[in-house]
Amino acid sequence: MPLVPPYIESLRPYEPGRSIEAVRREFGLTRIVKLASNENPMGSSPAALERMRGATGVLNLYPNGGLDLRRELAQKYDLRVENVIAGSGSEGIMSNIIRAFLCDEDEVLTTESAFIGFQVLARSRGVTYRTVPYKDWHYDLDALAGAINERTKIIYLANPNNPTGTIFTKLEFDRFYAHVPERVLIILDEAYFEYAKDNPRYPDSMHYRYDNVITLRTFSKVYGLAGARIGYGFAHERLIANLLKVKLPFEPSTLAQEAGIGALADKEFLHRSLELNARGIRFLSEFFAVMGYPVPPSDANFVMLPLSTEQEAARVTEGLLRQGVIVRSLSAFGLPAVIRISTGTDEEHQLLVDAWKNL
Ligand SMILES: Cc1ncc(COP(=O)(O)O)c(C=O)c1O
Repeated sequence: MPLVPPYIESLRPYEPGRSIEAVRREFGLTRIVKLASNENPMGSSPAALERMRGATGVLNLYPNGGLDLRRELAQKYDLRVENVIAGSGSEGIMSNIIRAFLCDEDEVLTTESAFIGFQVLARSRGVTYRTVPYKDWHYDLDALAGAINERTKIIYLANPNNPTGTIFTKLEFDRFYAHVPERVLIILDEAYFEYAKDNPRYPDSMHYRYDNVITLRTFSKVYGLAGARIGYGFAHERLIANLLKVKLPFEPSTLAQEAGIGALADKEFLHRSLELNARGIRFLSEFFAVMGYPVPPSDANFVMLPLSTEQEAARVTEGLLRQGVIVRSLSAFGLPAVIRISTGTDEEHQLLVDAWKNL
């Protein structure tokens, strides 16, 4: 028996986007724009920061496992606290789902080039990981339904999807759901929910509940708290009770939980972030269309830019980087000819445009 299981030995680790500091060091630049990790360009919710500052006096005490935030969320969404979980980012909860529900012979099913965080977590469990191709950069839910077999245990769907930015509708989901056996758990990852919620074609999963669906959301994106690591999930109480058994007892941290509570109440920051993002999506979509690179319609805080070849994508990524604009190559996702660009401030978009025109 090898010390390291073969599926871990061969696992390609999660590669986050390049950091501002790393690019500054490598290229000696002063002005760097990071449009690579779908973060909030406005910073963090001030109400969240205020709550975090207010909690520094109790950091000698262990936290309560997210109970305060779970109560707030239950009240906001008219649920019972038993239907809510809080964790270290939605990825923290995904990791618990994988630990709690997957047995060795189970299979995971999702789309090709799914969110890289999920890919790495699922593959690290050593189970069979199956995918179906996109259809015009959207989930092909009919093909996914057809690919379910007797070993399928978890189906992962992100809506809006990362990296494409596209959504599926309630009608499409219902048609798919009719083919899903009760023993299969669907992870409905709504990390970008807030950006999509005002689109009438977007289904808010809190308006329809199924016992074998867990909805995941996060404070990392629109609330600007990616560094605090705080996310949450809604599901049937039996699912939540079992997830709580495997969760680290004191996760999330006191500061993360306070940040989440503060952010939930921060309507103004939410509103301003959504406004800036909507402007950014319009701007980037129009700019790239004019440049001859139409992007798929995005309901998130980024656009995905398919280029003609892997070489062209590498050239563009590197060319922008040398000018201080960090964008995300999607090689690690399994799309080497595609890049992803997050929305930034108006000024950052202008720097991107200038850098693009220099290429
Ligand atoms: C689809 C999707 N889910 C989850 C996450 C991670 O969220 P968190 O920071 O809450 O772990 C991301 C982050 O990029 C994402 O794109």
